[in-house]
Amino acid sequence: MYSEKVMEHFHNPRNVGEIEDADGIGEVGNPRCGDIMKMYLKIEDDIIVDVKFKTFGCGSAIASSSMATELIKGKTIEEAMNITNKAVAKALDGLPPIKMHCSVLAEQAIKSALLDYSKKNGVHIEGLENFDPTEDAHDHH
Ligand code: FES
Repeated sequence: MYSEKVMEHFHNPRNVGEIEDADGIGEVGNPRCGDIMKMYLKIEDDIIVDVKFKTFGCGSAIASSSMATELIKGKTIEEAMNITNKAVAKALDGLPPIKMHCSVLAEQAIKSALLDYSKKNGVHIEGLENFDPTEDAHDHH
């Protein structure tokens, strides 16, 4: 049911923890399953130089957040904005259909942390205008 990559990231999640002087912190939750994801970003000159996460959630959410941090580390804000939940799931060699919403949580955690960064620093991030972190993750497919 789960790919080897999902299992591997579940057992050895990358970038777990928090960043004390983070430039952006995002927290999202899925109201149906109750899972919560928190993402910390360190940003210098538009580059995500460090990222950490904490996920109180299912195995797929842990694997998704682990993979998401790997995908955005060292990337520009713009590149991070382009990481969709589908890209996260694809990088994990797929997720079972009923677990796709777990990867949505990872995408939303990144965007929510970027939104926090943009608010704190008064910078505009293209594509965040309509982002609503409270939107129900199950409605995305
Ligand atoms: Fe809730 Fe996976 S079951 S995020």
